[in-house]
Amino acid sequence: MGGRNPPSIIAVDGPAASGKSTLGRRLADALGYLFFDTGVMYRAVTWIALERETDLGDEPAITRLAQTAQIDIRPPSKNDGRACDVVIDGRDLTWEVRGRKVDANVSVVSAYAGVRKALSEQQRRIGLRGKVVMVGRDIGTIVLPEADLKIYLDAQAQERARRRYDEILARGGHADFDEILEKVNERDRIDSTRAVAPLRPAPDAIILDSDHMNAEQVFEHVMELCR
Ligand code: DC
Repeated sequence: MGGRNPPSIIAVDGPAASGKSTLGRRLADALGYLFFDTGVMYRAVTWIALERETDLGDEPAITRLAQTAQIDIRPPSKNDGRACDVVIDGRDLTWEVRGRKVDANVSVVSAYAGVRKALSEQQRRIGLRGKVVMVGRDIGTIVLPEADLKIYLDAQAQERARRRYDEILARGGHADFDEILEKVNERDRIDSTRAVAPLRPAPDAIILDSDHMNAEQVFEHVMELCR
């Protein structure tokens, strides 16, 4: 029996902390594909803007930043829980882009049309090479509508906030659950109501609700779809 090849371009979309990265990374490992977390690029632009004290409300300036920034996403160089290295202008800023200040401002930056255009063009070029699991909000709808398999991973805000909270504690950090929940809700609101590329499932996406599935079950289910 000749089995069919697994899908070459896999898109995983969904709201913040729904488990997209965990799923995407495991899929990529299992299939020997590139794992590409596109949220990191929006985070990187936000981080640069904050560091340079660029006014986050200045859309043309932020757009120029997105067009010119040297953002490299590389395979992980350290075994500290990172899925990839985020290198900005030669500096390893993998954990900095996950900081609270970036969390609080990334939705504003990622709502700008020019920023989205600059970053999604780069993402599309990488995705079209194939053998890739690309994770984000608009991969199945805008970046790679031709993806062979589209997963939309959803979960209740409460559950997603709990995961973020556990993640921060596991890294030895401090966190306030209610504050995280509030931020998750706020980010959902901005991500899904923005004019350009709002968060929503592609018409041909398979919607998975991870509230009642653990990471292992989600992974097994999607591997089954790949076969
Ligand atoms: O997945 P994440 O939390 O790292 O994403 C950070 C932000 O980037 C999130 O608020 C939405 C935005 N984003 C986006 O607009 N489009 C993508 N493809 C990926 C992320």
